[in-house]
Amino acid sequence: MEKNVSESKYEPPGRAESFWIATTPETEYPSLTENVSVDVAILGGGIAGITSALFLKKAGLNVAVIESQRIIKGVTGYTTAHITSAHNLIYDYLIDHFGKDGAQQYADANQEAIERIAQLVEEHNIDCDFRRTSEYIYAESKEDVEKLGREFEAAKSLGLPVSYMDAAPLPFKTYGAIHYKNQAQFHPRKYLLSLAKLIPGNGSFIFENTRALDVEESEPHRIKTDRGYLIAKNVIIATHFPFLNQGMFFARMEPYRSYVLGVRIADEVPEEMFDSSKDPSHYIRTQPTPDGLLVIVGGEDHPTGHAANTVEHYERLEQFARNHFQIKSIDYHWSTQDNYSFDKVPFIGRFTPGSKHLYVATAFKGWGMTHGMVAATILSDLILGRSNPYQELYNPGRYKLLTTGGKLITQNIQIAETLLKGRLSRPEKFSSINIREAKVVDVKGEEVAVYKDDKGNIHAVSPACTHMGCIVSWNSAEKSWDCPCHGSRFNFNGEVIHSPAVKNLERKEIQE
Ligand SMILES: Cc1cc2nc3c(=O)[nH]c(=O)nc-3n(C[C@H](O)[C@H](O)[C@H](O)COP(=O)(O)OP(=O)(O)OC[C@H]3O[C@@H](n4cnc5c(N)ncnc54)[C@H](O)[C@@H]3O)c2cc1C
Ligand code: FES
Repeated sequence: MEKNVSESKYEPPGRAESFWIATTPETEYPSLTENVSVDVAILGGGIAGITSALFLKKAGLNVAVIESQRIIKGVTGYTTAHITSAHNLIYDYLIDHFGKDGAQQYADANQEAIERIAQLVEEHNIDCDFRRTSEYIYAESKEDVEKLGREFEAAKSLGLPVSYMDAAPLPFKTYGAIHYKNQAQFHPRKYLLSLAKLIPGNGSFIFENTRALDVEESEPHRIKTDRGYLIAKNVIIATHFPFLNQGMFFARMEPYRSYVLGVRIADEVPEEMFDSSKDPSHYIRTQPTPDGLLVIVGGEDHPTGHAANTVEHYERLEQFARNHFQIKSIDYHWSTQDNYSFDKVPFIGRFTPGSKHLYVATAFKGWGMTHGMVAATILSDLILGRSNPYQELYNPGRYKLLTTGGKLITQNIQIAETLLKGRLSRPEKFSSINIREAKVVDVKGEEVAVYKDDKGNIHAVSPACTHMGCIVSWNSAEKSWDCPCHGSRFNFNGEVIHSPAVKNLERKEIQE
C-alpha cells in the first residue's frame, strides 16, 4: 500500500455518477429538529434501513429513519442490483464450514428474499424495472472449472434452481457456468424511493442530513445526533459499517471497494446477469434506458485504502470491457465498497450477545439486495418478539474461532502494521506536491494530508482517521482520503463520507 500517490494521466470515461442516482430525483426529507420519541430508531437509510423501517411500520410500530446524508445514496445508491441467491462461490464453502443445515438456511433465506422483493413490488405497484431473469456464475479460465463443478453440486444438493452449462451465453469465451433460474433485477433507487414514501406519517419519520453520533444505552435508548437527541426503545444500526465500537465489528470484517462502468455496446446484448468465479470477479447485467440497453460491468475490487492508485482500477475495468464487448460509448463510471465478514456470512441480529434492544445489519459481502431483505425480516421478527428460522446463522455473536481465528488474527496484525507504517514512514515535503496531487507531508514537524486542486488551492487536513487513528491514504479516482484500517472515507476537505467514522478530519491552515 502506498500513502502518497501522484495522479494517473488516465481519466475514467463518462459521467462520474451512478446511473441509479443520475436517473432519479433527489429526496427532501427534513432534518431532526426536536427531541422525538419512537418505538424503533433505524440509523442509516440504505436498503437494510429502509426495508426494516417499512416492515416495522407495517407491524404497527412508530419508526424514525436517521440518515446522515440523503437516503439511498450510500452503498445502495452505487450498487449493481443483481437480486439473486447466486452469491458467487459460496455453497460448497458453507456446507464445509456451517454444515448442510447452515448452508440450507443461507440458500432458503436468500431465495425467500427474492420472492419478498417481488411481493413488495407487486403489492405497492412499484415501477422500478423489476424483471425476472437468470444469474450465471461463469468460469473466466480453465483453472476455475473444477471449483465451479463443486459449487454446482453443492447448490444442487440444497435444492437451488441450478443447472450446469459448458459455457455462459456471453459473446466471449467462458469455460463453464452455473445457471440460476428465476432470479431478478431492478432499479434499486426507483424501488426504495417508493418504499420510503410509505414510512413517514402517523408518528413515523425519515430525517435526512442528521448524523447519529452515539447511542446511550438505556431504557429507552438515547441516540445522540448532530441535530439533537432521538429517543427510542429499539435501535437498528444499519449504517453500512457500524459506528459503535462495542461488538468489535471492526475486527471481524473488512471493506472492499469495487468499480463499475455503464457502457453501450454494438454487439447483441445478453440480457441476463453474470458474475465470474475469478477472485475478484467481473459482473455484468443490463438496464433498460430510453436510449436502449445500458450494460453495467463491474469488478477490480481491492480492500479500501489499500490501492496504490485507484484510477488504475477503472482503467483495468475499461480494458476488460473493451476486450469482451464492442464498446460504442462509456456513459457512466462509479464505485463503492461493501463489508466482508471473517466467515463470509453477514452479521444480522443483536448488536452484542447482551444487547436487549440494540440491533445491527452489516457485512453483506457484495450481496445486499437479498441480504437487505433478510436483515429486515430477521430484525423485525426479533423486535416484534417472533422467532426467525435464520436468526442463528446470521447471529452477530457467533465466533467460529477454531476455523477462522487465523484469518481474524492475520487481519488484525495487518491493521496494526498499517497503523504503525502510517505513523513511522517519513512524510514528504510540502513543496513536492503538484497540481491535482495529494500527499501526506511534513509541515513544521507535523503530518498533514494535503490535496492541491486544479486551481492550485490547498486543502489540508489531519491524516489521522477519527475512528481509531490510522493514517488515511489518497483515493485518486474519487478524490477522497480513505482509511486502510476499517474503510472510513473523507472528502478532500475532511468531511466524513463513509462510516465507521462520525467525526470529520481536523482542518489545517497552512501557507505555501
Ligand atoms: C460495486 C458494488 C456492486 C454491488 N452489486 C450488488 C449486486 O449486484 N447485488 C447485490 O445483492 N448486492 C450488491 N452489492 C452490495 C450491496 O450494494 C450492499 O450490500 C448494500 O447496498 C448495502 O446496503 P446498506 O443498507 O447496508 O448500506 P448503505 O446503502 O450504505 O446504507 C447505509 C446508510 O447509512 C448512512 N449512515 C452512515 N453513517 C451514518 C450515521 N452515523 N448516522 C446516520 N446515517 C449514517 C449512510 O449515509 C447510508 O445512506 C454491491 C456492492 C458494491 C460495492
Ligand atoms: S476506519 Fe477505523 S481507524 Fe480509520
